[in-house]
Amino acid sequence: MVEIKALAHSIVLLERAVGSCHWTQAQIEQTLSSSSVFFYPFYDQTVLVAYLLAQQMVDDVEILQLSVHPQYLRQGIATKLLNQLLQDAKKKKTARILLEVRVSNIAACALYQKVGFEIDGRRKNYYPTNTVLREDALLMSLTC
Ligand SMILES: CC(C)(COP(=O)(O)OP(=O)(O)OC[C@H]1O[C@@H](n2cnc3c(N)ncnc32)[C@H](O)[C@@H]1OP(=O)(O)O)[C@@H](O)C(=O)NCCC(=O)NCCS
Repeated sequence: MVEIKALAHSIVLLERAVGSCHWTQAQIEQTLSSSSVFFYPFYDQTVLVAYLLAQQMVDDVEILQLSVHPQYLRQGIATKLLNQLLQDAKKKKTARILLEVRVSNIAACALYQKVGFEIDGRRKNYYPTNTVLREDALLMSLTC
């Protein structure tokens, strides 16, 4: 439990620098404690600088969050974490890896397509924004 608390705290600190995920420490702790979670941390020395969090959903795996610290971008770290997830998902005979991403998230959309994800659809007005307007989500999947 102490380990999960410390890990969740490292994720909160990393997300402050990345600014893309607004989960509370308690929500992260709860997710990390689940037996169906896939968690891939990436450290520089002892500092968490990237991670991927995903969850088994019956036959599929859903990516919950993937974040890389701004000082470590474009070094292939996210690609490495996605490939680790893909390897493990194949071992568990997972059908597909699924995710949702903001249409404006050019970096993530390019990354996922480079790794082999395909666009399955679009969820209108899914994400809140800083204005009254909402933003669409792209639904993507990768067959394992
Ligand atoms: C999206 C994110 C995870 C990418 O991490 P990363 O470690 O920099 O990605 P990689 O180095 O593995 O990049 C692989 C490929 O993705 C694409 N890519 C990554 N960042 C890009 C950018 N800013 N613009 C365009 N393409 C980009 C490129 O094709 C890149 O290959 P290349 O560097 O050989 O051109 C990172 O930008 C991030 O943490 N963003 C904030 C959080 C977020 O949006 N997470 C996704 C939520 S769904």
